[in-house]
Amino acid sequence: MSRSLEDVLESYPRISLTRLPTPLQALPSLSAELGPQMYIKRDDLTDLTLGGDKPRKLEYEVARAKAEGADTLVTCGSAQSNHARLTTAAARKVGMQCVVVLSRDQYQELQGNLLTVYLMGAQVHLVEAASHWDLEPYVQSVCQSLREQGKKPYVIPISGTTPHSCLGYVRCGLEIADQIAEQGISLDAIYAPFGTGGIFAALLLSLRERGITCPLIGISVNQKREVCYDRLEMWWMEIGRLLDRDPKRARGAFEVHDGFVGRGYGDPTEGCLDAIMLMARTEGILFDPVYSGKMMAGFLAHQAAGRWSAGQHILLLHSGGVPALFAYAGVLGTHLQKRGVDIGDR
Ligand SMILES: Cc1ncc(COP(=O)(O)O)c(C=O)c1O
Repeated sequence: MSRSLEDVLESYPRISLTRLPTPLQALPSLSAELGPQMYIKRDDLTDLTLGGDKPRKLEYEVARAKAEGADTLVTCGSAQSNHARLTTAAARKVGMQCVVVLSRDQYQELQGNLLTVYLMGAQVHLVEAASHWDLEPYVQSVCQSLREQGKKPYVIPISGTTPHSCLGYVRCGLEIADQIAEQGISLDAIYAPFGTGGIFAALLLSLRERGITCPLIGISVNQKREVCYDRLEMWWMEIGRLLDRDPKRARGAFEVHDGFVGRGYGDPTEGCLDAIMLMARTEGILFDPVYSGKMMAGFLAHQAAGRWSAGQHILLLHSGGVPALFAYAGVLGTHLQKRGVDIGDR
């Protein structure tokens, strides 16, 4: 008989970076508008510097960095990287330095996440790169020069996704299972954004472990479906290995959709902007244009195609990312006008 997930999780060092659990809330106004009973898991409300998915992931990686005697966290991402914000915040909370390598792009205005990174005093390297997914060589050269200065860098990869950091989302899946049991909810589907796939793979594993069998539906924010499935496979094996779970165990129903990316990562598609407006106007909850807005656009497209109906229960994972909204003020303003909102002369 294998040890319980809770027991195995306890054997991995973790430094608390946020208050948990995050709330799992009903969305009555959105439900009234759409038909199905809608719920949301508020991981935007983790309480490290404007919240999001990263604190759960970083709790494990920061513990590993500390155990290695590191004094500087080093990571990379896009100019509006949530991960850069929260890695800097985590470093500050535990008394470490932070260096972030960010790719220049059209959202590099001193706004949102980038502003917070500077405020918290990270050393920022804004570099020209074809894509923020290709920053590894810059990260390595930053580490080299930190070592030459006598520092002890610890690299956290893009999006903060590692086998150990995924344990944070295994815990999230267990939290969801407890919360829906307490609230007497039987879910028909769970929607989550899919980036590197760390969140998705970890949720899939822990939800299945707790006997929650509804489809887990991922909305890709950048990659084609085949790439997402490869990533899922990789994380599934890695997390299973850490948790002493048979990699061949049943995964149940899951899907990843790649039709909502638009022209690429961070592209604010019409569907995404409409989804952000709908959520804001019904529930006063802000989504972001890169992750949660795309997830909601995916859900709304399925809803419009008749997949979901009254009487069904759907959970949305809000993984955060809201500070990036402010870097998209221009495109959001234009979209509001297009939808007939008078925002005055600008
Ligand atoms: C707000 C937000 N949601 C979701 C994700 C994607 O998570 P994953 O890479 O584990 O799929 C990210 C990754 O950067 C993120 O910042």
